[in-house]
Amino acid sequence: MKDGRESAAVSMRELSPEAGGTAGLRIFIVRAAFIVFFVLLSPIYYLNRYDLLRQKKKNPFYTSKLVRFMYKHPIVYEIALYVNNFPKPSRVYEVLPELSGEVLQVGCGTGLLNKYYRNNSGVRFTNLDVSLPSLELGKRMGRFDSYVHGDICKAPLRDESFDAVLFARCFHHIRRTRKALEESCRLLKPGGIVIVADPVLMHKTSAAEKMTGGYMINSSVDGVIWKYTLEGLKEHLLRNMPADLALESTTEKRLIHMTNYNLKYPHTDAVMILRKLGG
Ligand SMILES: C[S@@+](CC[C@H](N)C(=O)[O-])C[C@H]1O[C@@H](n2cnc3c(N)ncnc32)[C@H](O)[C@@H]1O
Repeated sequence: MKDGRESAAVSMRELSPEAGGTAGLRIFIVRAAFIVFFVLLSPIYYLNRYDLLRQKKKNPFYTSKLVRFMYKHPIVYEIALYVNNFPKPSRVYEVLPELSGEVLQVGCGTGLLNKYYRNNSGVRFTNLDVSLPSLELGKRMGRFDSYVHGDICKAPLRDESFDAVLFARCFHHIRRTRKALEESCRLLKPGGIVIVADPVLMHKTSAAEKMTGGYMINSSVDGVIWKYTLEGLKEHLLRNMPADLALESTTEKRLIHMTNYNLKYPHTDAVMILRKLGG
C-alpha cells in the first residue's frame, strides 16, 4: 500500500545478515538455545496457556497469570526479555537510527535502552510508561533518574517539546494506535520524528492472511498485543497516522537473536520513521 504521505525515495529494505561466515554458526547456536529454553520452560508455558484458553472463552481480554505476575514483578519480565532476545539482548537496539536531542521514550519499561545509551551525552530521554512497577525498578537500578508515569494516548507533556518520539519494541503493546500517533504528533517539534522499532513476523499466519494491517491477539506471555508483518505494520501506520505525519522510511534487518530465530514464529527487526511536517 502506498499513498501520498509515503515518501517514495526513502522507502527501503535492508538485506538480512544471515548468509555465510560466522552468521551460520550463530544462527545454529540461537536455534539450539531456543530448543533448550523451550524444553525447560514449556511446563510453565503450557500450564499458563491452558488457563488462558479456558478463561478467554468467558472474557476475551482475560490477562494470563504469567502476564499479571510479570507486571507485578518486572524483574521477571526483564529475565524473560533476556531469554527472548538471547544471546545479547541489547543487540536489539542496534537497528535504531542515531538519536540526539530531546527524545520521548514511550514504553521505557525498566530502562534497558537507557542502559544501552548510558555513554551517549547527546541524547536526553524522557521516560514514559504505564507500568509503575517497571518505572520504579528502572529508577532503583539507576537506569534513569526520573520518569513520567502515564499513557502515550494521554501524555501529561507539553506540545512540541521533543525532537523524537521513540517506540522501542513497545508499539505492538499500544492498543489505541491512532490516538498514540496523534499524541506523538502533538508532542513533536515541527520536523521531528516518530521512530517505531518493532519485531515483526516474517510471514503471514493464517489469522493475518485474511487481514491487512495488523491484528490483535491475547497472548499467554504478552497479554493483548498487536501482531504485524513488515507490510502490515507499514499499512497500519499509513492508515492511522495523522495528516501532519509522513512515512519517511521503512527498514528491516534480521539481527541474530532468539525472537527472530524462534523456530515457530520467525521475526525480523523493523524500523519505520514518520516525520512531522513543517520543520
Ligand atoms: C515490551 S515492553 C518494552 C520495554 C522497553 N522499551 C524495552 O526495550 O525493553 C513494552 C512496554 O510498553 C509499556 N506500555 C504499554 N502500553 C503503553 C502505553 N499506552 N503508554 C505507555 N507505555 C505503554 C508497557 O508497560 C511495557 O513496559
